[in-house]
Amino acid sequence: MARWCLLLAAGLLASFGPVESQFPQDQGFQCPAKDGYFADPDNCRKFYQCVDEYPYDQLCPSGLHWDDRRKQCDFKDVAECGPITTTPGPPTTEDPYKATSCDTANCPLPNCFCSKDGTLIPGGLDPSETPQMIILALDGAVNGQNYEHYVRLFNDTEHKNPNECPMRGTFFISHEYTDYQMVQQLYSKSHEIALYSVTRTRSGFKEMVGMRTMLNLWANVSEFEVLGMRSPRLKPGGNEQFNMMLDYGFVWDSSVSVPPVRVPVWPYTLDYKIPHDCRSGGCPTSQYPGKGHSNHSTREDFNRHYENNRAPYVMSFHTNWFNEANLIEGLNKFLKDDTWFVTMTQALLWMSDPVPVNQISQFDDWDCRKRKEVPPPACNLPNSCKVPFKPPPDVDKRWIPGTRYMGTCFSCPKQYPWLYDVDGDGGQADFFEPPEV
Ligand SMILES: *[C@@H]1O[C@H](CO)[C@@H](O)[C@H](O)[C@H]1NC(C)=O
Ligand SMILES: *[C@@H]1O[C@H](CO)[C@@H](O)[C@H](O)[C@H]1NC(C)=O
Ligand SMILES: *[C@@H]1O[C@H](CO)[C@@H](O)[C@H](O)[C@H]1NC(C)=O
Repeated sequence: MARWCLLLAAGLLASFGPVESQFPQDQGFQCPAKDGYFADPDNCRKFYQCVDEYPYDQLCPSGLHWDDRRKQCDFKDVAECGPITTTPGPPTTEDPYKATSCDTANCPLPNCFCSKDGTLIPGGLDPSETPQMIILALDGAVNGQNYEHYVRLFNDTEHKNPNECPMRGTFFISHEYTDYQMVQQLYSKSHEIALYSVTRTRSGFKEMVGMRTMLNLWANVSEFEVLGMRSPRLKPGGNEQFNMMLDYGFVWDSSVSVPPVRVPVWPYTLDYKIPHDCRSGGCPTSQYPGKGHSNHSTREDFNRHYENNRAPYVMSFHTNWFNEANLIEGLNKFLKDDTWFVTMTQALLWMSDPVPVNQISQFDDWDCRKRKEVPPPACNLPNSCKVPFKPPPDVDKRWIPGTRYMGTCFSCPKQYPWLYDVDGDGGQADFFEPPEV
């Protein structure tokens, strides 16, 4: 039921995104122009989104080819394979967000949500009737270095939501160094599991679908419950990405960063133009509270949300910089009768059915007691797999072969799972088939 509702409310959660990757540029493909979409010369399904001359590789859904003339994926017999050389026109910067402006009359909840400047509260609620949602977004590998912090942070006896349910976070998982037994444990405690890609370098769909498959194989996370993603390089892929997200059953993306405007922006569905001034490449870099390089006070930032329109407040943490003391201190300041620590998907569910705060005890999607089919807890004694890591040399020369450890409740793989070999059997797997919907 929830999935159906969310799919219709397919949207893009605005948030602070992750940092720029520190990895060198991919030398494989030279962008023919600064920005735009370009076919791969060798592979009909593959194309690149160039942003400031950096190529982000993307793949058309299974069965479709990239049509370089119309700049979209289409059926094989319709799409022309390969790059099409066109005489370079005037240097227009193709704005992937070009869409019509919000027409509220044609954008009713629960399937569509927008407002002219992005600041209106869903359902026309008054701020005083609106729960202040706080979304803890944790990016990166989950392992022995950070897991105990999470256990303490999400201590159910210490921090609770006003309905007595435990507060929950959204984990954007990347593969390398992740302990899948720990992920399985977080999942069984009803935290949301989302994607940060396999290699933390790109956001192509093999990265995202590959990561989702690994979470299923190694942590028994249902593919139907992995609904969202965050691009490692914080560059959303425009309409093409959105269409592919739908094809693969994803519902939301949290890669767009929002400039620190006075009145915060609510998440929106992608039917209409993005209502804030943020284009690929032009967005400010992310805010990670607790990273400590910014003097921007989290308190002030939170108040900007709480005292204005109560747009969900997203606090992003990278697992490597995780500072538990800072965070817990911060959280204690934010605990109020009308603040709720919810997952990204729970926030979207509220937005598609905005229940005022005084009736929220009847809002089932936030009620832990109403949750059906809670996944069973992970095993107590996981396999601690020590496996050879043999990344395909043609894909990424930056990965150094060696040995990796991987915790899982399942049998150890023959070699370290990676792009193209998500089950770690040493063979080449094609995992691009969209799931049955
Ligand atoms: C949770 O908090 C309670 C009360 O402060 C404490 O006794 C307990 O040990 C904590 N649990 C964990 C797992 O940290
Ligand atoms: C940072 O914030 C503190 C407290 O608000 C202030 O006292 C300090 O001067 C600020 N530092 C800088 C470099 O702005
Ligand atoms: C995987 O999850 C499903 C659904 O929660 C559960 O029925 C099954 O027992 C789990 N399998 C293992 C091996 O943990």
